[in-house]
Amino acid sequence: MTDPLLHHGDDELAPGLVDLAVNVRTGTPPPWLREVLRAALDGVAAYPDARPARAAVAAAHGRDPAEVLLTAGAAEAFVLAARALAPRRAVVVHPSFTEPEAALRAAGHPVERLLLDPPAYRLDPTAVPADADLVVLGNPTNPTSVLHPHRDVAALARTGRVLLVDEAFADTVPGEPASLAGRTDLPGLLVVRSLTKTWGLAGLRVGYALAPADLVAAMAAAQPHWPLSTPALAAAVACTTEAARAEADAAARELAGHRAALLAALPPGVAVVGEPASSFVLLRVAGGARVRAALRDRGWAVRRGDTFPGLSPDHLRVAVRDPATSRAFAADLAAILCPEIPGPIPTTTSLPAAVPEEHR
Ligand SMILES: Cc1ncc(COP(=O)(O)O)c(C=O)c1O
Repeated sequence: MTDPLLHHGDDELAPGLVDLAVNVRTGTPPPWLREVLRAALDGVAAYPDARPARAAVAAAHGRDPAEVLLTAGAAEAFVLAARALAPRRAVVVHPSFTEPEAALRAAGHPVERLLLDPPAYRLDPTAVPADADLVVLGNPTNPTSVLHPHRDVAALARTGRVLLVDEAFADTVPGEPASLAGRTDLPGLLVVRSLTKTWGLAGLRVGYALAPADLVAAMAAAQPHWPLSTPALAAAVACTTEAARAEADAAARELAGHRAALLAALPPGVAVVGEPASSFVLLRVAGGARVRAALRDRGWAVRRGDTFPGLSPDHLRVAVRDPATSRAFAADLAAILCPEIPGPIPTTTSLPAAVPEEHR
């Protein structure tokens, strides 16, 4: 394997496998958004005009357009922050998405890791070194799916520090109760958002950062001119309208039901790590590498956990899909873990519910 920090769910995919490794919502982009993208193609002879998208994103979060930086996905925002900042003590809270740390290292910054404790993987704000001038964390967190209360995250903001909160999955939680995207009172707060997960735009690359205007300007200075294409900008406008945000919220509510169905279907021997709140769950199973290989043999791609700092080969991240898919997955998982049970494996109702590890 190459650098584990650069390993991602799409590396687990292969033709014929059901994708439980990448956390992009299935069935997306929706037809109306495809129409927006098609229409935007008519304008691609002109250089892109980012102003309407910037204004739309600002309006959606109650921010000034000067506090918005449109980026080619959340991933670009991490690189721009790494280029714009010169932290003396950068602390990345793990386990979490690895691109922010990879971007900081690529820019030549030393990085310290703060590993959260199992089984809850909850943030303890007092564990963050007081003199860290850059703190990075995700909320909800990939890969644990844990949602830290907004108070705990906000407590990390202070003058002289940049607090980078990766909210790429914030819109998978109904009502976004922990989001800090609208907060302008917290010094140095840099919120990074993605439109690629909920809207199925991973291949288009659309995201943005929300931060004090001077930080936005510094990050913009590290960005090439015309960083987002005209279709990407059209998508940013379309996905931040009130109607689109209501649609995302409805999807998040449906997702909660689908996640419950997945958890209820999991067989004995599988521990659910933390309390999942997003579009994926983190599982722990003995012999994880063997189980992952056996799942592949049965047609399922799940995300290995051992490339995340603090996790092991026994950790597997699984995307939440519709209940029928989840039950079929759980049945194969049960057959792998308990080969003596004759198949077909019955569905949720007769299988014991999986309870988050911390509640056991
Ligand atoms: C937690 C997290 N943040 C950010 C990203 C990057 O998102 P984008 O596609 O917007 O660059 C990902 C992608 O997997 C992610 O999991």
